[in-house]
Amino acid sequence: MNTILTKRWLHIYLVMLFFSEVSTQSCSSLRVKLSTTNKNNLELLKNKMRTNLPLQCLSDMREFIATQDILKEIQKSLEDNPVVAIREIFQQIIGIFNQNLTETAWDENSMAAFQIELHQQIQHLGTCLSTAMENDSPSPRAQNAQLTRLRVKRYFQRIDNFLKEKQHSLCAWEVVQLEVKQCLLLVDQLTNRIPN
Ligand SMILES: *[C@@H]1O[C@H](CO)[C@@H](O)[C@H](O)[C@H]1NC(C)=O
Repeated sequence: MNTILTKRWLHIYLVMLFFSEVSTQSCSSLRVKLSTTNKNNLELLKNKMRTNLPLQCLSDMREFIATQDILKEIQKSLEDNPVVAIREIFQQIIGIFNQNLTETAWDENSMAAFQIELHQQIQHLGTCLSTAMENDSPSPRAQNAQLTRLRVKRYFQRIDNFLKEKQHSLCAWEVVQLEVKQCLLLVDQLTNRIPN
């Protein structure tokens, strides 16, 4: 378990990725690539979760799902901006899994693999965003994208708070990973909304 070494490799990999010809990847392959990667990541996540929520976690689950409809509530608005939304969701998932994983079944290598996939897709999504969205001019489209990012951030803030409140306990992670699984399933739906 050498966190520093793994982080170092991840870093080197990301630098290489940055200089590689990501931008030549065609955006038309984006949907297919996203969908494949997302399936792999879902499998990986499922492997790291317990098949059934442990009984002792039921009260944490109840506490967490008291406001669970948030994802459904924001889904409609995310569908208007699928590329921006998916990109922010992946950024936020990386942030979530950069936290204390002691009580989870993740090891350094599988977590690195999971995150590398996410980073790669973030790069790919970025190259397919029109430059108009990236510049600072307050066009309605840019504002709309900003709003989408904010919605996703606010949604993940709640997950983040929950993890911290519960001190990254086994139950907190089981509950949160179930929610991340829902997010990846949502990404699948959003992927279908990306225009060809
Ligand atoms: C990580 O979380 C576990 C479980 O709550 C805790 O025992 C441990 O002290 C935490 N480690 C760090 C570095 O915060």
